[in-house]
Amino acid sequence: MRVLITGGSGFIGSPLTEALVSKGNEVLIYDAFPNAHSLKNDVIDKIELVKGDVNSWTDLYDAVKRFSPDAIIHLAAFISQHAEQHPLQAIELNVGGTITVLEIAKKLGVSKVILPSTVATFNSSVAAPISDDAVQRPTTVYGITKVFCELWGTYSHDKYGVDFRAVRLPSVIGPGRTNGGASVYASLMIEMPARGLAYEIHAAPESSIPLLYIQDAVRAVVALLEAKHSPKTVYNASGIAPKASEIASEVKKQIPQADVKFKPDAGVVQMLKQWQQMDSASFEKDIGWSISFPLEKLVADFIGVIRKMNSSANQENAILLEEARAGPH
Ligand SMILES: NC(=O)c1ccc[n+]([C@@H]2O[C@H](COP(=O)([O-])OP(=O)(O)OC[C@H]3O[C@@H](n4cnc5c(N)ncnc54)[C@H](O)[C@@H]3O)[C@@H](O)[C@H]2O)c1
Repeated sequence: MRVLITGGSGFIGSPLTEALVSKGNEVLIYDAFPNAHSLKNDVIDKIELVKGDVNSWTDLYDAVKRFSPDAIIHLAAFISQHAEQHPLQAIELNVGGTITVLEIAKKLGVSKVILPSTVATFNSSVAAPISDDAVQRPTTVYGITKVFCELWGTYSHDKYGVDFRAVRLPSVIGPGRTNGGASVYASLMIEMPARGLAYEIHAAPESSIPLLYIQDAVRAVVALLEAKHSPKTVYNASGIAPKASEIASEVKKQIPQADVKFKPDAGVVQMLKQWQQMDSASFEKDIGWSISFPLEKLVADFIGVIRKMNSSANQENAILLEEARAGPH
């Protein structure tokens, strides 16, 4: 399959690109800030990297026309905290970009458009586990823009026959996650100890939000892309929902010297209360996806990835040091 990924250089886009390439797909990343360094060396040569803005009709149109993808995976967006800090730009990117992507897909006959949506399209008053069709009354800029994306995609599906498919993900965690504001603690309380660094957790020990490991999130998007048929346009994908204290215990079990301490921030603790566990029964049944990283396995894999990155960085530094010591040839 030929797949164009908007925002493909980001936290989800990079491992998603690697997963798609490893399955034999041809990928074009269309990103305002393309970054080849976010990809493994053997993947960089196999993909096309284009610098472009999703809000630029002509640039995106030309890229889609030339590459002629079977599917567009639309990732480019301002996410939670960033959207709250820059509301008008977030509306322009999240809403405007999605309109542009869907219009171009419609005009050029791209059959599938895949969108990762979010648990943030619900609010804390909805009963957990949240069903696919629960009422959506988000109270954040990010949530509001993503509800629009879901509705506009569904409208394009119903009215123009675009095969629009979306999956609402919980907060995605994994190596390299630094964006996303309040929920970032769940990644950093694993990543920092794995790097041998101390970390202060701004969540409370009892804080619990739905989390999904990056590999499970990538598998959810790939499953939606590969499904022959998607009976619904929008699905929920549930995650795990450990308390922050449970993540801390697991990290300390696997890294006994881990220096992680709780220093709750009232604002962060309050914000974390708005996200609840979703019910992904339909997604599991219709699309054939389920979580493969429960907490213990997630923490072990996460630590393994960081240690591997550290050791290859150390090796590269050692080679550079060696070359510097040898002097000019
Ligand atoms: N990370 C999560 O926890 C999470 C959870 C649910 C849904 N999602 C959704 O997944 C998608 C990707 O999230 P992420 O965490 O990888 O975000 P990210 O911020 O890491 O990546 C976004 C990418 O979009 C690019 N971009 C920004 N503005 C652009 C523009 N105008 N034109 C083209 N590219 C532009 C950025 O350079 C970046 O590479 C988003 O749509 C987000 O809503 C993320």
